[in-house]
Amino acid sequence: MPEGQQRPNNLDAFWMPFTANRQFKQAPRLLVSASGMYYRSDDGREILDGTAGLWCVNAGHCRPEIVAAIQAQAAQMDYAPTFQMGHPVAFEFASRLVQLLPDGMDHVFFTNSGSESVDTALKVALAYHRARGEGQRTRFIGRERGYHGVGFGGISVGGIVTNRKVFGTMLPGVDHLPHTYDRTHQAFTRGQPDWGAHLADELERIVALHDASTVAGVIVEPVACSTGVLVPPKGYLEKLRAICDRHGLLLIFDEVITGFGRLGTPFATDYFGVVPDIITSAKGLTNATVPMGAVFFQKAIYDAFMNGPEHVIELFHGYTYSGHPLAAAAGLATLDVYQQEGLLTRAGDLAGYWEVAMHSLRDARHVIDIRNLGLIGAIELEPLSGQPTKRAFSTFLKCFEQGVLIRTTGDTIALSPPLIVEKAQIDQIVDTIRAALAQVE
Ligand SMILES: Cc1ncc(COP(=O)(O)O)c(C=O)c1O
Repeated sequence: MPEGQQRPNNLDAFWMPFTANRQFKQAPRLLVSASGMYYRSDDGREILDGTAGLWCVNAGHCRPEIVAAIQAQAAQMDYAPTFQMGHPVAFEFASRLVQLLPDGMDHVFFTNSGSESVDTALKVALAYHRARGEGQRTRFIGRERGYHGVGFGGISVGGIVTNRKVFGTMLPGVDHLPHTYDRTHQAFTRGQPDWGAHLADELERIVALHDASTVAGVIVEPVACSTGVLVPPKGYLEKLRAICDRHGLLLIFDEVITGFGRLGTPFATDYFGVVPDIITSAKGLTNATVPMGAVFFQKAIYDAFMNGPEHVIELFHGYTYSGHPLAAAAGLATLDVYQQEGLLTRAGDLAGYWEVAMHSLRDARHVIDIRNLGLIGAIELEPLSGQPTKRAFSTFLKCFEQGVLIRTTGDTIALSPPLIVEKAQIDQIVDTIRAALAQVE
């Protein structure tokens, strides 16, 4: 775009995702540059990023080391296939990544997004059981209020009604656990709620209903972020793991948000001490600079495919851009930044401050619950009577006007600042939200 021209002439052609297109195009909010903790809007204002973009810019924006790595890779080799061919950067990135994962989780499949990571995890789970002679294990169990992206696999195991209801029958044979949120028992809990571990027992009921021999696996987000930060009750994930073990089901953790330091550990599996069979990731993998996802598998899963004649392809699955050189180069530079600056554990150092700051909003107008874990927070508002989502969206608009980017889902404000956030910036986010809540209807 020419210097000085910050706003495109026509906003019509771009059908925007998860957006009220007509409303947006009447009063667009455009971001034109970014650095560290800040965006700059087209009208020249600095906007403090309270959401790491979409839960993804964990190291902050436009980090020079990552930018340089992408530029250098683009100049050296823009693209190379990874079907029956390879290039060094993807292998190097895979080897670096598995060092961050629990012992035994030592294979990576590259995708381009969280949605593709979820589809990959589900497909591999089916193929794994078949490779072991248990091809009748075809069912999946997801969870109400789960978000696993927007592919047919992800919306099938996901539990968000609006993301499902107009898209037909989706994957057959999917059942859902109840979600884990209950305000009566959990309101204003700091960290993990004491109440709710028993909800994992529903898995026993569902497995018994279908018979374990028909179930391939269970997929959950360790912390269900997109539907308003639903923190797992103490003991809940441990129970899921035990039930999966009892019945031979694969446990899949969707760590597209919780991966890469969001809870103060490299992955949520480390935070909770519960190790799944498969982990899906994306977002913070490349600090969101170049789209990429990755799925991590236990050795036994990979090994189950490594049978038969060696010239035969073991898994008929992959993407043109699996392990894309630019993404892999960005990912390697991202890991360097995370490791040099201690960003995979920094959320743990800030979690206490963050928790106090979040819960200081308890007496702010309209607030009916607050939830937090690591550097994630949610502030749930009493909905405007007869107009669900409107109050939260008005708060979002007010905060944006006042220079802070927040995110809303339903009537909940969800926060996840870059992991480089300073305490004064946490205060600014909280103060801005408090002021906005005082102003909205
Ligand atoms: C837990 C989880 N899974 C999957 C996805 C989908 O990722 P993407 O939008 O990159 O397809 C998201 C996105 O927010 C997510 O939060």
